[in-house]
Amino acid sequence: MSPLQRILVSVTVALVLAMLYGKAQGAEMDPNCLGCMCEASSNCNASTLCHTSSTYFCGPFHLTWAYWADAGKPVLQHDNPDRKGAFENCANDLYCAAETVKQYMRLFATDCDGDGVHSCKDYVRIHKLGKSACTVPIPRGDFLTKFETCAHRLNVF
Ligand SMILES: *[C@@H]1O[C@H](CO)[C@@H](O)[C@H](O)[C@H]1NC(C)=O
Repeated sequence: MSPLQRILVSVTVALVLAMLYGKAQGAEMDPNCLGCMCEASSNCNASTLCHTSSTYFCGPFHLTWAYWADAGKPVLQHDNPDRKGAFENCANDLYCAAETVKQYMRLFATDCDGDGVHSCKDYVRIHKLGKSACTVPIPRGDFLTKFETCAHRLNVF
């Protein structure tokens, strides 16, 4: 695939995710915000599985076990949150992973940057840096560049 085709595929995935999500869940978090977090994490590649770099993370949103546990251990239908592998099965599933992110934000959204509102700028910091480390900006790098490009394109904020 050419780079342009790859971008189109990943934007399409993000938009489909955003649309389905907006319908299913109501609008507490801009679905495009969720889509751009997915883009920044993995190009929103739904085939992303588990990897270990400095930490162990899984799926298109690059979720860690701790993040998933803090979100209340969402699971696929009929799965048991205490079963070994329940985390991986959820995190590697686009919809379960998206639900995990939404639940994490419902529980832990704060005004990280002190501008008086809970916006996608806060959510993306919380996603990348964690719920108690979001008062600083996300370091320059691939994640931030991809997020900003996506957010600009989809007019998120
Ligand atoms: C998505 O990820 C899978 C698994 O890592 C990889 O094989 C595939 O090429 C990726 N797809 C795109 C469009 O980048």
